[in-house]
Amino acid sequence: MPTTFKLNGEAVSSDAPEDAMLLWVLRERLEMMGTKFGCGRGACGACTVHVDGRAMRSCRLQLSRVAGRDVTTIEGLSPDRSHALQQAWVEEQVPQCGYCQSGQIMQAATLLAENPSPTREEIVSHMDDILCRCGTYGRIIRAIQRAAGETAAADAGRSG
Ligand code: FES
Ligand code: FES
Repeated sequence: MPTTFKLNGEAVSSDAPEDAMLLWVLRERLEMMGTKFGCGRGACGACTVHVDGRAMRSCRLQLSRVAGRDVTTIEGLSPDRSHALQQAWVEEQVPQCGYCQSGQIMQAATLLAENPSPTREEIVSHMDDILCRCGTYGRIIRAIQRAAGETAAADAGRSG
């Protein structure tokens, strides 16, 4: 029986085996190529997506576990790449090869959703196990700080 879930706000169903890993269902069956394969062991974070708003490693998540749930990939983070993090990533010119970056942004987005004004230490702790072989960590931290600042400024503008 096909597995049905919500992907970036739209109902989808897949007839992949229930024990197929979500990463491969996304990439090979649903043509969502923004989510990357790094290690396949849950260790690098390149495959991070949101499931019901929580950051999860799609390379270790069986399709059956997302049945009826709400999955968001980098393609669905904002309709027009206008999420504060995506804009900050451009401003800070974060990527080098770019391979890890969708996972980085998806992980960072859950931090700002829970904590719109994180300290540097909170950012480092939240991002700690998402690896970047190009060593862009400094720019990642700056981009998250920039996005947090811009979100706070926008909120102040709305309430002022
Ligand atoms: S590919 Fe999933 S954690 Fe590395
Ligand atoms: S930008 Fe190359 S792995 Fe992170």
